[in-house]
Amino acid sequence: MTRVPVVVGAGLAGLTTALHLAPEPCVVLCAGRLGSGAASGWAQGGIAAAVDPDDSAAQHLGDTLAAGAGLCDAEVVRSVVEAAPGAVAWLDGLGVAFDREPDGSYALGLEGAHGRRRIVHVGGDGSGAEIMRAVVAAVRATPSITVVEQARARRLVLGADGEVRGVEVEVGPDRELSVLESPTVVLATGGTGALWQHTTNPRGATGSGLALAARAGAVLRDLEMVQFHPTALDVGRDPMPLVSEAVRGEGAVLVDGSGRRLLDASAGGAGDLAARDVVARAVASELRRGGRVGLDARSAPGARLASHFPAVWEACRRAGVDPGSVAIPVRPAAHYHCGGVLVDPAGRTTVPGLWAVGEVASTGLHGANRLASNSLLEAVVCGARVAAGVRQVDRGSAAPRAAEPPHRGGRRHTAPGPPPWVRPTMTEQVGIARDGAGLAAAVERLAVEVDRHGVDGVSDPVLVALLVARSAQLRAESRGGHLRLDHPGPVGPVRHTLLTLADVVSAPVPARRSA
Ligand code: SIN
Repeated sequence: MTRVPVVVGAGLAGLTTALHLAPEPCVVLCAGRLGSGAASGWAQGGIAAAVDPDDSAAQHLGDTLAAGAGLCDAEVVRSVVEAAPGAVAWLDGLGVAFDREPDGSYALGLEGAHGRRRIVHVGGDGSGAEIMRAVVAAVRATPSITVVEQARARRLVLGADGEVRGVEVEVGPDRELSVLESPTVVLATGGTGALWQHTTNPRGATGSGLALAARAGAVLRDLEMVQFHPTALDVGRDPMPLVSEAVRGEGAVLVDGSGRRLLDASAGGAGDLAARDVVARAVASELRRGGRVGLDARSAPGARLASHFPAVWEACRRAGVDPGSVAIPVRPAAHYHCGGVLVDPAGRTTVPGLWAVGEVASTGLHGANRLASNSLLEAVVCGARVAAGVRQVDRGSAAPRAAEPPHRGGRRHTAPGPPPWVRPTMTEQVGIARDGAGLAAAVERLAVEVDRHGVDGVSDPVLVALLVARSAQLRAESRGGHLRLDHPGPVGPVRHTLLTLADVVSAPVPARRSA
């Protein structure tokens, strides 16, 4: 068996991990073409970092904990926000041309629930695209990284003690199945937003990494914590283009169909820049009442919208929306999974040899509601930490290391697609506003589907949807991104939702053994 670590996923978290593993070899599995298809490249806001002399890691910590509504791990938050200026400097060193003020300091954006301007960005709202351009270029220039394109991990291969021995991979347009042997697999597969009908995530974001980890027996944490972004452009596109929160940071306001402000900032509240869950709920409730919601950017940022937010401007233009004369039509959309595979501060899951980083992981940074622009930050900081942890483990081994592409096994994989009712079910019953009856109905329907096909045969989206719905059912309170209409307030003491696949399905969970 080669000892080369396998990184599953080629977004910012996976590629950062690979770059920090260098010069040690690694294999990166990329579901499409390198540099396209990852949600990281679509990020608009940027990276939250206390780089202003008047700001501090303590203030960034405080804002992150407040947004996280009791579920953050304060020590993890502290260590990540303290590392934020270094993460920005690392990207700077890779050639990311962050926007600057005339005096050379970083131009800082403002987003919801941040107490001050703190978002370092590139090209206005082009942060993700520019960061990924630089990181992909660095990966291409790093000979120790072997990228396998059009490769999707299907199953983890486990040894007799449940430890990782490799990964079964579907490669190429013919979807041939191969096995890549390795004792170290890093999941960096991103989120789950495409399980909902309205999402800002790529269509492939259906929790493939969660499914891999769940089938291997990993402990999953707080999967009910799904963040809905309040302002996705509502012009019938799927996925929906994002209208960055930073547009509200520059003065745009949410209005109802008659032009009245939706959020009241008069009583000292944060109004349009309240935490994302608060704003998303206000928008959703207006839509549920049959109203319309728009983002009025006419006065502010006004004419600066085109230069400061070119991606938003272009998406509006393509849809025939003129933000100079009308409010931009918006609705909430599934945007980020705050829960995920439980990891320790180094990124280790509960399955020996399995690591997780980025959106698929639950590090304790985001709690019940992620603070805006803390996710690219987490990808960079934790990518470096996972690489350090993996290298430390590998140093203890004398086995030879060489990167080998997956050997083709010839067998063809026919993964079943999810049934068409999954997205409407998640939207209606496991969406922004949930209740016990709806969740029970969703869990039952999804569980029947799992029983019908078996844990092994059922599609990943169905399995992940069941895990999310069951987690939401278990949390009988409202907290952060999880609103239970039948349990309107938070309930103490604060607790995490921890579960494994075996807790959720009645059928036995087959362990995957190496030959
Ligand atoms: C945004 O630009 O509104 C999104 C930023 C984020 O999701 O962190």
